[in-house]
Amino acid sequence: MKIVVAIVSCALALGAFAQGTPKYLDFTAPLEERVEDALGRMTLEEKVKMLHAQSKFSSAGVPRLGIPELWCADGPHGIRGEVFWDNWDNAGWTNDSCTAFPALTCLAATWRPELAREYGRAIGEEARYRGKDVLLAPGVNMLRTPLNGRNFEYLGEDPLLASKMAVPYIEGVQSNNVAACLKHFALNNNELNRNTCDVHVSDRALFEIYLSAFKAGVVEGGAWAVMPSYNLFENRHACENPRLIKEILKGDWDFDGITVSDWGGVHNTDLVIDGGLDLEMGTGTDGLTANMNAYDTYHMANPYLERLRDGRASVEELDDHVRRVLRTIFRTSMAPSHWKGRFTCPEHYATARRIGAEGIVLLKNDGVLPIAENVRKVLLVGENAVKMLTIGGGSSSLKAQKEISPLQGLSEALQGKAEVAWERGYIGAGGVIYNNVKSRDFELLSERRDSAALVADAVEKARNADLVIFVGGLNKEEHQDCEDRDRLSLNLPYGQDALIEALADANPNIVVVNISGNPVAMPWAGKVAAIVQDWYLGSEAGNSLADVLTGTVNPSGKLPFTIPYRLEDTPTWGDGRRYPGIQRADSHISDIYYDEDILIGYRWYDTKKIPVQFPFGYGLSYTRFDIGTPTVSRTDSIYTFTMDVSNIGSLKGAETVQIYVSAPKVKGLVREAKKLAGFAKVDLLPGETRSVSIDVPVSVLAYYDEETASERIVPGKYVFSVGASSAELLHKINVRYDEK
Ligand code: GLC
Repeated sequence: MKIVVAIVSCALALGAFAQGTPKYLDFTAPLEERVEDALGRMTLEEKVKMLHAQSKFSSAGVPRLGIPELWCADGPHGIRGEVFWDNWDNAGWTNDSCTAFPALTCLAATWRPELAREYGRAIGEEARYRGKDVLLAPGVNMLRTPLNGRNFEYLGEDPLLASKMAVPYIEGVQSNNVAACLKHFALNNNELNRNTCDVHVSDRALFEIYLSAFKAGVVEGGAWAVMPSYNLFENRHACENPRLIKEILKGDWDFDGITVSDWGGVHNTDLVIDGGLDLEMGTGTDGLTANMNAYDTYHMANPYLERLRDGRASVEELDDHVRRVLRTIFRTSMAPSHWKGRFTCPEHYATARRIGAEGIVLLKNDGVLPIAENVRKVLLVGENAVKMLTIGGGSSSLKAQKEISPLQGLSEALQGKAEVAWERGYIGAGGVIYNNVKSRDFELLSERRDSAALVADAVEKARNADLVIFVGGLNKEEHQDCEDRDRLSLNLPYGQDALIEALADANPNIVVVNISGNPVAMPWAGKVAAIVQDWYLGSEAGNSLADVLTGTVNPSGKLPFTIPYRLEDTPTWGDGRRYPGIQRADSHISDIYYDEDILIGYRWYDTKKIPVQFPFGYGLSYTRFDIGTPTVSRTDSIYTFTMDVSNIGSLKGAETVQIYVSAPKVKGLVREAKKLAGFAKVDLLPGETRSVSIDVPVSVLAYYDEETASERIVPGKYVFSVGASSAELLHKINVRYDEK
């Protein structure tokens, strides 16, 4: 029977070809007509083959019809180097060394959505050029605990900031006929037990906090793909979760793209069919190496085919999955455009350098920055001044064409002005691979000294320097900023705290540059002259940092997360129930309870009145700004705040005006002390004043009402606060909201 079906299908296809171009190959035809035409030509087997992996990062097309395979690629900060068809090993290609862009936490710290669009366009060009149809990015999980190993891949602790930065990134990527794939959907807020933790969260926190950026990415950004996550929610793995996939994503949000499982996130055939997933990737085996083509043993492969043939699975649902994959192919590799993207071009490096510099946050400056003209001897201390940080950290690890280290960037920037020396200062985890400028090769740093000698040497040299720049922080090793692991402490590792204090005792002119994707405790903050929150900046890391430290770029970054004093102050601290969760008896599953509910990040610290080291939205400049008294006007659905912003210093710079809103108290209803309602970044020359307008949708006043499963605004007095950070709110405007 199957042979007859195949012969008939081929004949139909050939017949159609014979009569002229079939609709699905008419690139000018409406998308849905192409989808329906292609679907109608496919056999059952061809349909099923399209819904699961055929290699590590691809799923099958329809060779007979000239429909290509669908290729995915990591990651959020650059296009991952090619791996073998069937395993994670590097394929050793010579043309896949990419531009490494800054980590998304840095992008969030720019508070400039236009840069997110530029970032998305550039990384999308690199994906297109590498022939990748789905970019597995952006990650938009919220920073719930500073211990989460993957926070460096995400956009911080506030859903509005994350949404405003994710939407243009997605649009930029997709302008290259490459699908952006929002991940990890949803509630993947820790790496420890990521495959086995069942998240318990109120619907209110789910919709107000944890799904907010996903919804913006789908509804506003038009994301063509979404990646359900490893963890469980309501006792169902997210990749097999009908409430997340069918009800919320495809139903409420009218998502018409594909859901691509996280790699290995599917565990059960009947559950994944029931859950509504479209594309199963990375399950269990390394494909061909098993005793048969293990891709056929995937849950959405032969097991699914059997259920379709014996009527246990719906062909209608199968066709919906296939429509979504076809739609994605016709949006990407078979899109009308012939655009082939660009790769490692000067413009991409310029974008990386600009975003890196603009995302750097100046947290403290006693006047030692920017580096003074009379500084002649600079000492850099710390492994992160030389260590390659584009590699490691899990799936976001990159094969970068270049990575300028802080030592290289600063040496070049200060050439002819100051002598730049370096001391390792401490020994971190993992090998230190660095880019040897002389040998122009990547080398492994050797070391004979013990920790005491390393500290002694650094301190000795610090005594004789005009300026000490400590470049440390976390790295991409396990239990630092790394996938599939969480951090074990809020403090810096490898004895860095003591080293910083020793250096500060030896020379008060010390700048601490913390490179991390997460907040770290800063017990030495009062003893150093300047503090810079730096990020994983990728290929141009050293140049971006040098641009800021020398004053070529005036820092304008603002923290996308709170930096707490200690772990005990954080919302997830406690008896383990909130984090890392409680192991079920006789089960590999643990239960993690989001008891802090909507009070994530600064919502927690503000509402509980817990002092912090540095607040959300905080960042200094080398110049000073004045934010004038705002006025507010309202249309039916928008408040518009207008104020004058002035640069009252001597250097050009940029300020981010932030607006927060506080709701009236209602008995029995927990409300955050305030939440971000809007923001705008403005560039100003010295002495310049500009009028800035910020639109805030009236819907920002709402909370998610669980009883009606809808957003509701409580009538009453709302207080809007305007300022330069969540803790510097100079102006307040009261607005009354009355139910119509
Ligand atoms: C990983 C990550 C996901 C990545 C995928 C493919 O486990 O969770 O972010 O895109 O697998 O590498």
